[in-house]
Amino acid sequence: MNTPPADAAISRQSLEEHEQIHFFLDRLEEALAGLDPKSGDSEALERLVAVIAGLREQIIEHNSVEDSVLFQAIVDRLPEAEDEILALSEEHRKILEILELARIHARNRDMEEVGSLRDDLTAYLGMIREHESREAELLRQALARESRGLLPGRT
Ligand SMILES: [Fe+2]
Ligand SMILES: [Fe+2]
Repeated sequence: MNTPPADAAISRQSLEEHEQIHFFLDRLEEALAGLDPKSGDSEALERLVAVIAGLREQIIEHNSVEDSVLFQAIVDRLPEAEDEILALSEEHRKILEILELARIHARNRDMEEVGSLRDDLTAYLGMIREHESREAELLRQALARESRGLLPGRT
């Protein structure tokens, strides 16, 4: 209620962004659960290919909003978090590279590789969820500091 407008905009934007990304991550989790290396179900692999394509589009947009707006807003409020923010930004590149590789593997529709693709993407899902929760924690700290009036360089 007492949140200044800039804060409100940042938290609302970030919340919406992250709701969307979690929606796509949940779809990936479902698609992975549907993969059965033994059954040779190619429809499940088709679904995975479609989910990866949707997630990729979403992540490109998501990362770009974070790199161009959200991360700077966090560093403005929490300068000591700059190194971690730089590491998170670097992870954005890695996250897209891994997804691109997975997309190529899934597109090849090689049923013999389904088991390892599923394991790799399950680990990937864990990594990206961890990335998102680190961002959420930094955002929470940044907003908490602003609401306490402890912004650096301001009185
Ligand atoms: Fe991110
Ligand atoms: Fe994020």
